[in-house]
Amino acid sequence: MPVIVFASPKGGAGKTTSAFLLATELANRNMSITIVDADPNHPIENWRKGGGKANNLTIMVNKNEESILDDIDTAAGESDFVIVDLEGTANLSVAYAISRADLVIVPSQRSTLDAGEAAKALSLVKRQSSVARREIPVALLLTRTSLAIRSKGLKRMLESLGANKVESFIVEINEREAFKAVFDHTCTLAQLGDSQVSGLDKARKNSAEFAAEAIQKLDSLQPKKPKIFKGVA
Ligand SMILES: Nc1ncnc2c1ncn2[C@@H]1O[C@H](COP(=O)(O)OP(=O)(O)OP(=O)(O)O)[C@@H](O)[C@H]1O
Ligand SMILES: [Mg+2]
Repeated sequence: MPVIVFASPKGGAGKTTSAFLLATELANRNMSITIVDADPNHPIENWRKGGGKANNLTIMVNKNEESILDDIDTAAGESDFVIVDLEGTANLSVAYAISRADLVIVPSQRSTLDAGEAAKALSLVKRQSSVARREIPVALLLTRTSLAIRSKGLKRMLESLGANKVESFIVEINEREAFKAVFDHTCTLAQLGDSQVSGLDKARKNSAEFAAEAIQKLDSLQPKKPKIFKGVA
């Protein structure tokens, strides 16, 4: 079943937050989801240990690069979707996980420095595509954006860094208290109450739109299978 990997060497880019939002959003729609928590700090496993749980959501802790491929394959055999949260660095685990991805999402804040780190993630996906001899779909996701500030888009920043033809999400993950609160209160967005945090409706809408676009990208970015025999459908 599809494997979606969140990757960026930039610490704090929003990998864990956006991976968690996508996983819990899909789980809430009755799909079985496994998050492979491959960050050595195990932020999502810590959420679970703190009392966090959700229907249809399994959290698998990955210990090291030796087992990451087996963990992803096991999770893919058991769930409708596998979502992999990686450490903010470029190591073997990151490269291995990318090689198994049906879609890599590269979260980034909107700044030139962050765009440079996102460009490194894009290059790594390109290299892994070459290793795997298949085009690994990848898309950029702007995170922690302020609704009040509309500055130069990340896509244009990346293009200025030479990363042309960059696929990116139309939806941005906004900076929202509710996206922090799910970890503070060890719950999901759906489980949060209006008394716990403000702006919940907008946060839920933002998260739902992100999940919808991720599913659509997963579908639209799959490489077309070459026809082996001419004239055979
Ligand atoms: N959309 C958001 N709104 C509000 N806070 C956010 C948002 N995204 C991330 N944060 C906060 O920013 C910090 C870093 O986010 P997160 O842990 O998701 O990044 P990361 O890329 O997984 O970092 P690391 O590389 O360290 O694993 C956290 O404190 C998180 O709560
Ligand atoms: Mg993280």
